[in-house]
Amino acid sequence: MDKLVINGGHRLTGSVTASGSKNSALPLIAATLLCGNGTCLLERIPDLKDTRTFRELLAYLGADLSYSGTTLRISTRNLQSIQAPYELVKKMRASIYVLGPLLARFGRAEVSLPGGCAFGPRPIDLHLMAMEKLGASITIRNGYIDATVSSGRLHGAHIEFPISSVGATGNAVMAASLAEGTTTISNAAIEPEITALCDFLTAMGARIDGAGTTTLTIEGVPSLQPASFTNIFDRIEAATLLAAGAITKGTVTVNGVDATHLAAVLKKFEQAGCTITIDRDTITLQSPETLHPTDIIASPYPLFPTDMQAQWIALMTQADGISQIIDKVYHERFNHIPELNRLGANIEINTNEAIVHGPEQLTGTTVMSTDLRASACLVLAGLVAQGTTEVLRVYHLDRGYEKIEEKLRHLGADIRREHYQEFSR
Ligand code: EPZ
Repeated sequence: MDKLVINGGHRLTGSVTASGSKNSALPLIAATLLCGNGTCLLERIPDLKDTRTFRELLAYLGADLSYSGTTLRISTRNLQSIQAPYELVKKMRASIYVLGPLLARFGRAEVSLPGGCAFGPRPIDLHLMAMEKLGASITIRNGYIDATVSSGRLHGAHIEFPISSVGATGNAVMAASLAEGTTTISNAAIEPEITALCDFLTAMGARIDGAGTTTLTIEGVPSLQPASFTNIFDRIEAATLLAAGAITKGTVTVNGVDATHLAAVLKKFEQAGCTITIDRDTITLQSPETLHPTDIIASPYPLFPTDMQAQWIALMTQADGISQIIDKVYHERFNHIPELNRLGANIEINTNEAIVHGPEQLTGTTVMSTDLRASACLVLAGLVAQGTTEVLRVYHLDRGYEKIEEKLRHLGADIRREHYQEFSR
C-alpha cells in the first residue's frame, strides 16, 4: 500500500495544469456503449484508478479499447455481455452508468448493486425509477439489478426527479437518446459533467434540448454514430490545487480551466480574503496573510460542491475565527474530521454541520484516508502542519487525482510517496 509523507510549512507558488475531469470521463466512457458501429475517440481522459476500472468494465463487456497519453479509443461493436459484475462494481459505484446504455442498446442489463459508501447512504432508486419510466421492468435478484425491456426498445416518458441527482440524470439522458419517442426530464442535474455528456451524445447524433438547464428534452433516435470529443477539465482537482495555495499562504495558478465552472468556489475564496485573477483559461489565487472564517453550504451545482467540502474544512482550520460547514448533499460526509482533529484541529460535528475553530497550528502525525476527498483534505492539512504528516491508504486519492504529489512538488511542496505494509490487528 502507498502513503504520502509530507513535511509541512512550505509556501506554494507557481503554476500547474488541470487534468481532465474524472466525473465527466466516466459517463463519457459509458456513453460509447450506445453506438454499435465504429470507434469513439475521447481526449483528455485522466489516468486514474477509477477510469482504469471503467475501461476494465467495458473490456469485460467486450469492447475494444486503446489508451495512449490521455487519448482513449473505444469500439463497442462486438459486445459479448450485458452484465456488470460485482467484482468491478464494488470498486466503483459509478459503474451504474452502464445500466442506461445497455438497456437502451440491447433491451437488457444485469448490473451489480453498488455496495456501501464511506460517507453514508447512496441509494440508486432514482436511476431505477427513470429506467422504469422509460419502459424497463426491473427486479433485484442475488444482489443484481436485472432489467429487461419486453418490447425490445425503451420508449419516451416524462421523468421528474424529486432531488437533483448527477448519476440518475446521466443514466436517463443516455437511455432516452435511443428510446422511441420524446422524453422530458425535469429537475435534471446541471453539473458541467452532465452538460459535457449531453454535448458528446449530441456529437454522436442524439437530439437533446436544454443541456445545462434543469429541463431536458430528448427526442430518441434509432441509432447513434461514433464521434470524437474532448473531455472538460477537472473542476474539483483545480479547486483543490487552489486551496493548496490558500492554506500555505502562497500564490498558485491553475491552467486549462473554465472559471465559470468554479464560480461558487472562487467567490468563497474571495470571502476568505484570497485574491482571484482569471485570465482566459487560467485562475490565479493569491492568499492573504490572514484567512477570514467563511461558512459554506454544500449543495448541487451551481452552488458550492460537496466534493470540495472536506478541503474547505482543512482550509478553515487556518482561518482567524469560527466557520460553519453544512453539507446538504451528503449529510454525514465528515469522516475526515476526526483525522483533522488528530493533527490538532479544533472541529465539532453536530448532525449535518461542522463548526471549525481557527486558527490552529497543526502538528504532523499519521492519519488515515477514508475516501477520495477526505484524503485530499488530509494532504492539504499536511502541507501546513508543523513536522511530518503521513497520509495512509492513498489508494483513495489515486481514484480521483492524477499525479497529485508531482503537481504539489512542482509548486514547492515537500511531499513524497512511499510504499508501506499495513498489518491487520
Ligand atoms: C456524483 O455522484 C459524483 N460522482 C460525486 O463525486 C459527487 O459527490 C455527487 O455527484 C454530487 O455532486 C461521480 O460523478 C462519479 P448524486 P452521484 O446522484 O451521481 C441522492 C467524488 O468525490 N440520490 O448527484 O452518485 C444521493 O444519496 C464523488 O468525485 C438518491 O437518493 O451523486 C445524494 O444524497 C463522490 N437516489 C444526492 O442524491 C439516487 O438514485 C446526490 O447524489 C441517486 C442519488
